[in-house]
This record gives sequence, C-alpha cells and structure tokens, in this order.
Amino acid sequence: MRKLLGYAVIISLIVMPLFAWVAGPTTLASEVAVASKVIPAEDQFFIRGPTVNFVTNHSAMIFWRTNETTDATVRYGLNESVMESETNSTLDTDHRITLESLEIDTKYWYQVVSNGTESEIYHFLTAPADGAPFKMIVYGDTRPGTRDEPIPEITHQLAELVAAEEPHLILMPGDFLYEVPTDHELALEKWAEVTNITDMLGHYAPVYTVLGNHDEGQEGPRILEYYLDAFELPAEPRTYYSFDYAGVHFVSLDTEETDYWGRFVGEQYDWLIDDLTNDDSPLKFVMLHRPFYPVFHIDNGVDTVKSERDALQQFFEEQNVTAVFNAHDHVFIRITVNGVVHITTGGAGAPLYSTWWKEAYHHYTRVHVSPNHVSFEAIKVNSEVEERYDLPYTGHIEITLRAFPNASVKQPGSMPEILYSEPPLQTYYSWDSASNSTTLTGLPEGPGYHTLDVYAQGSDGVWAHEQYMFRAPGTTTISPPPPLDPTLPLLIIGAVGIVVVVVVIALKRKS
Ligand SMILES: [Fe+2]
Repeated sequence: MRKLLGYAVIISLIVMPLFAWVAGPTTLASEVAVASKVIPAEDQFFIRGPTVNFVTNHSAMIFWRTNETTDATVRYGLNESVMESETNSTLDTDHRITLESLEIDTKYWYQVVSNGTESEIYHFLTAPADGAPFKMIVYGDTRPGTRDEPIPEITHQLAELVAAEEPHLILMPGDFLYEVPTDHELALEKWAEVTNITDMLGHYAPVYTVLGNHDEGQEGPRILEYYLDAFELPAEPRTYYSFDYAGVHFVSLDTEETDYWGRFVGEQYDWLIDDLTNDDSPLKFVMLHRPFYPVFHIDNGVDTVKSERDALQQFFEEQNVTAVFNAHDHVFIRITVNGVVHITTGGAGAPLYSTWWKEAYHHYTRVHVSPNHVSFEAIKVNSEVEERYDLPYTGHIEITLRAFPNASVKQPGSMPEILYSEPPLQTYYSWDSASNSTTLTGLPEGPGYHTLDVYAQGSDGVWAHEQYMFRAPGTTTISPPPPLDPTLPLLIIGAVGIVVVVVVIALKRKS
C-alpha cells in the first residue's frame, strides 16, 4: 500500500505540471493582482479622486469623495512645497472646489485635505492659449471580456502609460465594464473597479467620456446613475455635450439611446446640428462609441441606418469636422472619408477583434493638436508607435472598402461600399478584370471567386488602384486543417506516466 502511495505521489508530481503545461498559461495570477487593486470603499477615507475636471486656461474644478462628511480644502501651487489653498467649510461627502486665476498652460501641483487628512500630491496642466499646441490621449473599450472577469491587467498597464504621458486631456469613448449589474451592491463594486482606473487618470488630466453599449444596461431600461456618478461631465444628466479647449471644439455623442442604438434622433439630433452649425473653431473633434464605418460590428454602428449615417457624414464634411473618434470595434483603424478622419480606438483591454482588414493589438491613441498640424499615433503596450497619420494629409487619394469584408461570401447583387479619402475626380470599377465601368454595380452572377478592381483619380491627378476579392455562395473552399484532438495530450501524459511508473518499479526491484 505504501509503495502504491509512493507511486501515486511520483506520478502526480510528473503529471500535474504536464497538465498545467498542456492547459496553457493561466491568467489566475494576473486576475488576483488586479482584483487586489480594488480596495473596498469602506476601507478608504478618500473613496473617489481627487480628479481634475473642466480645465480651462485659467481654471480647474477638483472633485473628491470622502467616506464621511468633512470640510474640503485644495492646496495648489507651482511646486510641491509652496501652495496656496481654497477651502469650503460646508460639511459633505462629495467635494467640488474650482480653482480660479490659474496661469496659462502651466503645471500645477495639488492635494486635497478633508478633516485634516491629506491626499497624495498630484499635478495637472492648465489649457494652453487658443491655437497653441496640446496633447491628448483617446482610447476606449477598457472593459473585461466577460461579466465575471475583473478589468484586464492590460487595461491597468495602458492606464499607467497614459498617465505617464502627462497629456493635457483624455477622451474615453466608452465600454468601461462588461455590463451594469442589476444588483446595487455588485454594480457599485464593478463601477469601483472602473473609477479605480479612471480616477487615477483623472488625478492628472481631465477625463471626458461617452457611454458605450456595455455601460448603461443592455437588457431592459437604461441604468445611467452609475455612469453619471463615475464622471464629472458637462451638461449632466444629459449624456451628450460639447466643450472648447485651446480653441478646439469637442462634441461628445450618446450612441446608446433606447431603441435608437447608433442613431441620432429627436433632441440629441437637433442639439448636434445646432451645436456644430454655430461653431467656427478651426478644429472640431467628435467622440462617440459606435463607428460610422465599422469593420467588425457592421450594421451595428452609426451605419445601422445607412442613409442617416451618410447624411451625418455629409454634415460633418460641411462643418469641417477634423476627426471622429470611436471605439466598439476592438482594434485601431484609421479611415479618411472625404476629408473627415475616422479613428477607431477600441483596443484598450477588451478581447481584440482582428478582421479581414486588420490585425488588432492593444493600444491607446496619442494625438498632438495644433491648428496647422494634427498627428494621430497608435501606441502599443511596449510604448512603440505602431501607426501614424498626419494632417494636413499630403498623399494621394485613398480607396477603402467597407460594408462587407474583403474575401467574404456575398450574394450576387450585394453592394460593397467603396469610400475615398477625398471626392474622386473620376472612378472606374471592374469585376473579374472585365471592361471598366464608371459606376459600381453588384457582384457578378455565378459561383467562385470574384475580384473587384477600383480605380480613382484624386485632386492631384494621380490614379489610385485597389483590388478586392469576394466569394459567391456555394463556392467550394479549401478546408482548414482539423484542430488538434484534445484527447491527444492526455494520452501522451498517460503514456509518459506509465513509463515512469515502470522505470521506478524496475529500479526499486533492482535495489
Ligand atoms: Fe461597444
């Protein structure tokens, strides 16, 4: 019996590590590490913040929350040792103090004090003068992949990198958590995970957000109380707003209105038209969660009703919108449509969506802004610039395919959507290398692979050419290799175990 027990121990010592190896790297360690960062609110004196909000070139509002009613003081200054202070002696748990008469484009150090308890010392930048350059970070979809997972470790890593950038401001186009739990305590816990990150960013720069489809209760009525509580935003409780920063106009839209997902109707539509029409800033940025031209969530973005999407795109062109930032597709993609840059930046932690168009990677987007030059850079977790785009654009006309993927299966007559970075002077389309047509008609009849050649002439007279491939339904395709039989590794482990047992028994008998 003893011998048997000994053999069992030996086998388990050999087999268990092999099992772990076959199962692949586990995420348990990182999950535990992330979970431990979420300190239960009751153990903290400062439950939220402090965060810096509504920063202008001469003012900033500092917000924080304490776990009991306290007075409120902000100490601030141009260095950590010489600080003046602003106090509100009214006892409360939520504290908002606006600092005035600040210097333009200047780094300020600050800490908050409640009932004599001091916070850490943080710093932020005031806005530069209108027309002066500034740096902002844009990134979205910081959520986990399932309802039970904590916010991914990659999200924490990216947040640390973003804070280290010391940007003037941060835009986050939504999807902060997997879902809003209907249980209040659980909802508080999940949102505390979110604000644990966003308040860390908010220590150093104003954070502007929009709602993602995961942030407001996807099933049933909208649950907005936690989202509105998590962020200090203009125009609350309205979920869309605009603001100006350094002479640049920012518009933030809500793509999640009940029954109008991805659409803008009623009051928000009227407000948007009015807001952009009455603004004459040289640069205008729009932020929203769902893309105009999705690559993964096709027909689930602003393209849900294509005629409405196209009308809004045309309106943005007329209003000289510089760029539109969105998330929802978990990938970095830049597409320019008739001069309006669309940046999808949804790779901040949620499961990546690689598509026919694009290999996805975790990232944030760094944007340097000045009236005569804007650069967009996708920054990977290793801090390297993976992609870059500059305005003004000096290249030739770009041709881009949307509406369905290259190499996808489509019915005859289905229309791909061809987009151009500027209105082309002339276009030619050719299915299966047949004669050119100046207009695009649907897929040709018949099974098999079909190619579409697109030629477009830009304003500089240069022709661009792209070729796309589609398969008609019923086409025989080469089957991918069968997946590895999952029982095979177990058989190998079993065989190794038996060999070890036999060797051990033989050695024991010999001795
Ligand atoms: Fe989304």
